[in-house]
Amino acid sequence: MDNTGSLFLPSPHSTMAGDVDALFNFIYISSAILLALVTAAIIFFIVRYRRRGVATTTSGVDHNLTVEIVWTVIPTIVVFIIFAWGFKDFIRLHVAPGQSMQVKVTGQKWFWSFDYLEGVSSVNELVVPVDKPVKLLMSSRDVIHSFYVPNFRIKNDVLPNRYSSVWFEATDTGSYNLFCTEYCGTKHSEMIGKVRVVTTAQYTEWIEKASGPAPGESIADYGAKLYQQKACITCHSVDGKAGTGPSFKGIFGHNAELEAGGSVLVDENYIRESILEPKAKVVKGYQPVMPTYQGLLKDKQIDALVEYIKSLE
Ligand code: CUA
Repeated sequence: MDNTGSLFLPSPHSTMAGDVDALFNFIYISSAILLALVTAAIIFFIVRYRRRGVATTTSGVDHNLTVEIVWTVIPTIVVFIIFAWGFKDFIRLHVAPGQSMQVKVTGQKWFWSFDYLEGVSSVNELVVPVDKPVKLLMSSRDVIHSFYVPNFRIKNDVLPNRYSSVWFEATDTGSYNLFCTEYCGTKHSEMIGKVRVVTTAQYTEWIEKASGPAPGESIADYGAKLYQQKACITCHSVDGKAGTGPSFKGIFGHNAELEAGGSVLVDENYIRESILEPKAKVVKGYQPVMPTYQGLLKDKQIDALVEYIKSLE
């Protein structure tokens, strides 16, 4: 991460950062000008109307229409400018562009988890491609948390029992701090993470790698998980009962009669073919109704399903 931040703001790395900073600077500078004017007036009045010798009565002036109009109208205009400007950016920050990729964000005591549409998940590290709008769909498992990435200028509450949403488009690769900014209990200050912005190629590679078995999980157990996650379970039982498709129990290594006549040895290649081209060799007694899983399963996942079926003796 570079260090081009100012005294007040960390370095900007999202498409919205420039607009947020411009509004921040406008409010900051107009407040500073107002502070200078009020302070100057106070000092001027202290000197001009300080007590000199014997007390005299004041002139009895109780108002000045011109001055009152000036100090009412000018600040009102400034406040309306801030409102309109802030409202416009607020809406922009909360309505994600149509082509955004979506990540589900879950906050809980005291960590963040991220679920990607590719079916993988990560904890305390959000990985996103650069130059791509990312919509975060967020909710909490317990109390109110708040998702804050200073470099992207986004901050949004994360609530239980309700979705909230914010989006960003990172403009530079790198690793950026993520904080929880809603006091959520003893380890609130440790509820921190990173947003890692990578190239599109690195992102694809990361998804590929992340979609493997959990650490310590056997490949067959991973296959058992996929059997449920990918809905194989809807049509294929593992207890020998015929469903819409044949049961997986005890088929590996045996011959299967085919609807088109003849038979086939149920081995790794046949299972793989049946997943990717289900209509190629339909088992006798079943309809060719299975959809192809081409593009829906990674090679590693097909391997895991094969191992799972092998394990069902
Ligand atoms: Cu979660 Cu503070």
